[in-house]
Amino acid sequence: MTEQEHLKWKSFWEDQAAVVDAHQAVRGDRIMTPDVQAFHDRELIKLVDPTPEDRILDAGCGAGDQILLLGSLVARITAIDFSPAMVARCQARIAAEPDVTAETIIEVADVTDLPYGDDTFDKAVSIAVQQYLNPEECDRMLTELARVVKPGGVIVFHVKDLWSPTGIMITFGRWLRASIKGRPPLEYQYRTHWWYKKRARRIGKITGSYAYGTWTPFMPKALMAAIASWESKYRFVQKRWPHGKEYFIRVTVN
Ligand SMILES: C[S@@+](CC[C@H](N)C(=O)[O-])C[C@H]1O[C@@H](n2cnc3c(N)ncnc32)[C@H](O)[C@@H]1O
Repeated sequence: MTEQEHLKWKSFWEDQAAVVDAHQAVRGDRIMTPDVQAFHDRELIKLVDPTPEDRILDAGCGAGDQILLLGSLVARITAIDFSPAMVARCQARIAAEPDVTAETIIEVADVTDLPYGDDTFDKAVSIAVQQYLNPEECDRMLTELARVVKPGGVIVFHVKDLWSPTGIMITFGRWLRASIKGRPPLEYQYRTHWWYKKRARRIGKITGSYAYGTWTPFMPKALMAAIASWESKYRFVQKRWPHGKEYFIRVTVN
């Protein structure tokens, strides 16, 4: 991804903030049904394991869903996004939320160049952001997060999974389209958890990365809920095939 593509993504998110409601702006996917959302939220809380003293960084906050989720469970959330329109939207949304008791700082910043000192945060989350970054940007983001999160702190990501039925279908479809029509300017990336693990390992300061799926599309709700509960109970995907269309990665800074 070139600098030009980076700017295109930025203007894409500026437009998203302006034209759709805050929730759809970041969760346009029709598969994000209430039970999937609930499962996602439950898993995220489990992985972050918030405490009342925690100072959390939300890297790529969008309209503020993670602030809503964690806002009554921690001391402070610093939420950043590179789209000024998205930040304005997030600020307005959170200001109207009485349940958010944590101190909140919501500001414009790029996840690849964080304006914070070393060891500023206990934990960080970055949900559905890395898929918009090229490999070098992913490295810069990981380096920056490992710098601003204190040793022993965790970072939780949520990304799109190449090694899933949807990931394979979409990637194959894109390859086919690209060979006929050429590559379109904007595409978010499906990547395997091995890819992310390798990137994280290269940063050196990060260990213990693992991943597991959150959900599989095109599945009856009841079956999906059953699998989701089985998944969360036995954590089987952690050691086997991470089959979900999207998955979490949790790493520890050392
Ligand atoms: C799919 S949305 C996810 C938002 C939020 N994390 C959530 O889960 O609701 C992706 C967000 O990442 C932001 N973003 C993408 N690249 C970024 C970057 N390099 N620096 C900061 N924010 C970025 C976009 O502006 C957008 O708001």
